[in-house]
Amino acid sequence: MENIRAVDLDVGYGRETILRNLNFTLPPGRITVIVGESGSGKSTLLKTLIGLTRPLRGDVYWGEERIDYDSERILGALYRRIGVLYQNNALLNSLTLYENVALPIRIHRPETPWTAEADRVREVLGMVGLVGADHKYPFELSGGMRKRGALARSMVLGPEIVFCDEPSAGLDPLTALGLDDLLRSLQRSRGVTFVAVTHELRSIGRIADRILLLRGDGIHFDGTLAEMEASEDEYLRSFFLRTDRHAD
Ligand SMILES: Nc1ncnc2c1ncn2[C@@H]1O[C@H](COP(=O)(O)OP(=O)(O)OP(=O)(O)O)[C@@H](O)[C@H]1O
Ligand SMILES: [Mg+2]
Repeated sequence: MENIRAVDLDVGYGRETILRNLNFTLPPGRITVIVGESGSGKSTLLKTLIGLTRPLRGDVYWGEERIDYDSERILGALYRRIGVLYQNNALLNSLTLYENVALPIRIHRPETPWTAEADRVREVLGMVGLVGADHKYPFELSGGMRKRGALARSMVLGPEIVFCDEPSAGLDPLTALGLDDLLRSLQRSRGVTFVAVTHELRSIGRIADRILLLRGDGIHFDGTLAEMEASEDEYLRSFFLRTDRHAD
């Protein structure tokens, strides 16, 4: 797996620039966490990195390849290599959990025999602890189970990189902890690169190898957890104080 790089990147919508002049590289095989207050542009940045939202300026590179936001060929090739866990789960209510998880296979690898599909779906449902729930519809699952189901779907094509927008938001602390552990173990055992957006301060200390903290229209901090903890920077420290206060 190669790096993902942002070069002189401005992101936003129409005339509104939300983040400007971003330059960073996301390390492969690691968990990078993008943090920042609500409305700071985390989801917008994520969508830009995966080709869903066109940057206002600058470029995103996947390895040597510059994302061409007009090229269906390049975007299509990209989508076969990544998994995405959207902020709202986006499991389809008219499909069972099994069918939801099988969907990327049916769209991107329609030639897959159904036995191979069934094996793969069972495998990823096993990874997230949902084997017995495959016949249920999303509305019959708990919030945490839906998140894990969405994670299983994002993993089903064996992606090199998984992008998660608020994977543990809205979950109770224990379930959120379980989901964080799951991301960590998938990263360790399968070498998956994760880029996770969160405003759950609790998650950061547990899963982040690398932190990008957004503030105002830019990156306030870009570094490792250890560097973040050692920093004397006042905004960073207040971030961590809040983390400590809310931690169990
Ligand atoms: N589709 C859109 N069109 C125009 N503006 C948008 C759109 N989506 C988001 N915005 C604006 O972009 C800014 C950043 O939004 P974004 O969703 O990226 O924030 P966020 O950091 O993900 O917030 P949260 O933590 O609440 O999810 C906000 O001011 C928002 O109003
Ligand atoms: Mg968001």
